[in-house]
Amino acid sequence: MLKDGKILVGKNDNYEASILLNKANRHGLITGATGTGKTVTLKVLAESFASSGTSVFMVDVKGDLAGTAFTGVENENITSRVEKLDLEGFKYTKFPVTFLDVYGKNGHPVRTTVFQIGHRILSKMLGLSDVQDSVLSIIYHIAKDEGKELIDLEDLNSMIVLLENKRNEYSLKYGNLSQVTLATIKRNVLDFIAEGGNDFFGKPYFDVKNFRGIDPDTGYGRINILDAQELFKHHTLYVSMIIWLLNSLNENYQEVGDLDKPKLVFFFDEAHLIFEEMPKSITDYVIQTVKIIRSKGIGIYFISQLPTDLPEEVLSQLGNRVQHALRAYTPNEQKSIKAAADSFRTNPNFDTKEAIQALGTGEALVSFIDEKGEPTVVEKVTILPPQSRMGTIADDERKTIINNSPIADIYETKQEVRSAKDINKEELDAINKEKEEEEKAKIDAINAKEEEKKKKEEEKAKEKAKKEAEKEKKNSIGYQLGKKVKNKVENKLIDRTLNKLLKKFFK
Ligand SMILES: Nc1ncnc2c1ncn2[C@@H]1O[C@H](COP(=O)(O)OP(=O)(O)O)[C@@H](O)[C@H]1O
Ligand SMILES: [Mg+2]
Repeated sequence: MLKDGKILVGKNDNYEASILLNKANRHGLITGATGTGKTVTLKVLAESFASSGTSVFMVDVKGDLAGTAFTGVENENITSRVEKLDLEGFKYTKFPVTFLDVYGKNGHPVRTTVFQIGHRILSKMLGLSDVQDSVLSIIYHIAKDEGKELIDLEDLNSMIVLLENKRNEYSLKYGNLSQVTLATIKRNVLDFIAEGGNDFFGKPYFDVKNFRGIDPDTGYGRINILDAQELFKHHTLYVSMIIWLLNSLNENYQEVGDLDKPKLVFFFDEAHLIFEEMPKSITDYVIQTVKIIRSKGIGIYFISQLPTDLPEEVLSQLGNRVQHALRAYTPNEQKSIKAAADSFRTNPNFDTKEAIQALGTGEALVSFIDEKGEPTVVEKVTILPPQSRMGTIADDERKTIINNSPIADIYETKQEVRSAKDINKEELDAINKEKEEEEKAKIDAINAKEEEKKKKEEEKAKEKAKKEAEKEKKNSIGYQLGKKVKNKVENKLIDRTLNKLLKKFFK
């Protein structure tokens, strides 16, 4: 709720805690245990920013932010709060919401292309080293030179396969393309595809300028809700999406210095997931972006259980803070509470550490950046109730909002275009065919040789068999008998001839 041009977040009997619109780009943090009121606080803040004409983007992890598109329903929890806080002018209302979803199921699909995202950011998503990134940049270069569009990860993979097949040829022209590096990049691309990464790539790519917009009827800023119920199950893709978001904003928004109110405010619920198991290069990138994006009129608010879920360098950038209740059962939890308490400017009226543990649902310790740019002394307040409906919505309600949004029908259908993978397929098919033919010729030659060898061996075997048979024949009794008979006959013949000759001689 806006009051006196400020975002009224919470109240106690003597104090009104407000975020100054001109200090809202000093970023923020909402922390607390599960069920203590973080998501509702986020919702209250988002509603107020929208009321001021500022556009909002929020990541919805559980689907419980979707109700923001519908007017709040009067209930005891809210009316008692309105009364207790004496909220003059509080009204139930709805906000102009655009639902987004990488999978295109619970919102307009959000896609980018491999070309659009650029090799540097893609390298971060793929966890590539600087050397691997430089090879990736060559791949982009080659694709561009050859007029091949890099739309999705399959396009990129087909380029790598082509380069592997014609490595020597390409290395001559573009510098050494190491086989090992190509193989590593390919493996990481295939891993990302296996994780569902390709869902995020396609045409038409999403223009982040769509995030900003004023509803003509109410003058409210648009609230973009990225449904992340499915996305959260895919860590790499989720982090990739966040990197893409930050990078796109960085590139699309100019330096503006200090504005009366931010151009855009981002809320990342369950933010610990962004930094969990994240390679250092990505953490550094997020830290860097958080630091510079402020001067572009963009505020980033992280929501997590403990402040220590975020890297120290990010924490030090978050000026507007809401701390909900934390419970401490273990020494480690005690330590976290102490760390959370120490991050506030102390209030002489109470002990911060004790107060954190005694807070009720929807109550919080708060400290916001004041006009001088300094954090205010910590105050204990009750958070305002939201004006729009709390919790999830029905599928048909969501459909109605999606169908009536200003970007309806722009992104729904994935554009089918002839891209690198189609062109490369022809080339790779030709290479494969050539290879197959070569292979076949080789096999044919081997077979022919085998055949010849076999023939020779057969002939040899025949010859041998013939000889053996002859030998056997010679050794057989029949043969020997025959030979004897033959000899006898021959001898008789000789005898007879000799007799005849002798008789003739002595006549
Ligand atoms: N500011 C508030 N106004 C009204 N109800 C609240 C408020 N904060 C918390 N609640 C109640 O507490 C419940 C849990 O809050 P929620 O924000 O979902 O917790 P968390 O996100 O920390 O898990 C809400 O569903 C709501 O009923
Ligand atoms: Mg929550």
